[in-house]
This record gives sequence, structure tokens and C-alpha cells, in this order.
Amino acid sequence: MRMCLPTGATPRSVYSLIARSGDFSRSTVFLLDEFGLPPGDPGRCDEMLRRDLLALLPAPPATVERLNPQSEDLDQECGRYEMLLAHGGLDLTLLGLGGNGHLGLNEPGSDAHSPTRVVALSESTADSIDEYGATAETDWGMTVGMARLLASREIWLLVSGRHKAEVLAGTLNDAVGPDLPATYLREAANVVVWADESAASLL
Ligand code: PGA
Repeated sequence: MRMCLPTGATPRSVYSLIARSGDFSRSTVFLLDEFGLPPGDPGRCDEMLRRDLLALLPAPPATVERLNPQSEDLDQECGRYEMLLAHGGLDLTLLGLGGNGHLGLNEPGSDAHSPTRVVALSESTADSIDEYGATAETDWGMTVGMARLLASREIWLLVSGRHKAEVLAGTLNDAVGPDLPATYLREAANVVVWADESAASLL
């Protein structure tokens, strides 16, 4: 199975539930996004994936792919990742829901056809990396683009907490468009929304 996996607070609790019994040994994992932080910074997505999932698994995934923000040519690096994703596509994509409606680091303003690319972080996203334990600041990142995410054969949107209730309601009810990139999910096939009661409280 080829899966795209996010990091952050929401997936952390899901990973802690599934890791010990999950068999990822025949899976290829594509990390969804990465911040422009130095290698080893605890706020990096590859570090979060290691801490929150890989370190808990009885057996490692067959392959783990990630975007490298230290690459000398970032556009070429994004092109490399896009090709890896295109070759076989994605069977399952897990996504968290950004407080501003972003998916991965496809921030408001992203269109549905956006490729894997370098992005400028919105202020709220740049601020949020403190919560992930980042010891440095950054205003940029790299993300799988909306096009590859929406083409995934199945998508699970994970939403948890009262602070996500408004943006989840907007995701399901607002006009589909770049102001709230998560609304594009309404045009994708096979999307499952997993929300806890607090996050679903406005539905
Ligand atoms: P969170 O982040 O799970 O840490 O709330 C979700 C996101 O920003 O995609």
C-alpha cells in the first residue's frame, strides 16, 4: 500500500492507537510535508513522524519517502517527489485539518491543481510550529500539492477538538475554493471524515 501521512497533534493520537497493532511492513509511506527547518529540529515533520509513528511500529514500513528542505535545488526536489508520487499514485492519504483550512501546507490561496512545491507559510502556520517543539523559526515549507492529494484513491480527514469545529463546518458547507483549500475534498472520490464530538459540534 502507498500512503501519504501527515504529522502534528491530530495524527499523533491516531498513530498512538494504531501503531502497535498496525502492519506497515509492506507499505510505502510518503511524508505529506516538511518545514524549512534544520535537520534534526524537533518541529520537523520527519522528526514528528519518527517520534509519533515509526518509533512505535513493531516493524518499519518498507520505504519512507520525504521531501528534503536542505536540497540545493528545492524545485528539483519537489519535482522528484511529484514523480515518485505519480508513479503508482496514492492508495490512502491521511490529512489533518489546518485551523485556516490548509491541507498539508496547501495554504489558503492554493488551487486544486497545485503541484508539490515550496510554499510560504501563513502567519498562523508559522506560529504553530512552536507547539510541535521547533527550536528555530521558519516562514516556508514544502508540501505535496493538492492535485496529488485529491487523486488519492482514498482520503481520511482527521479532525479533533473544539478549536477545529468552525473550520470543519466551513469545510463541509462553504463554497468550494481556494479560500478554504479543505473544501476541495468535497470534489474528491472516497473521502472519509473522522471527527471527534467536539470538532463535529457545529455540524
Ligand atoms: P494539528 O495540525 O493536527 O497539529 O492541529 C493540523 C494541520 O495543521 O494540518
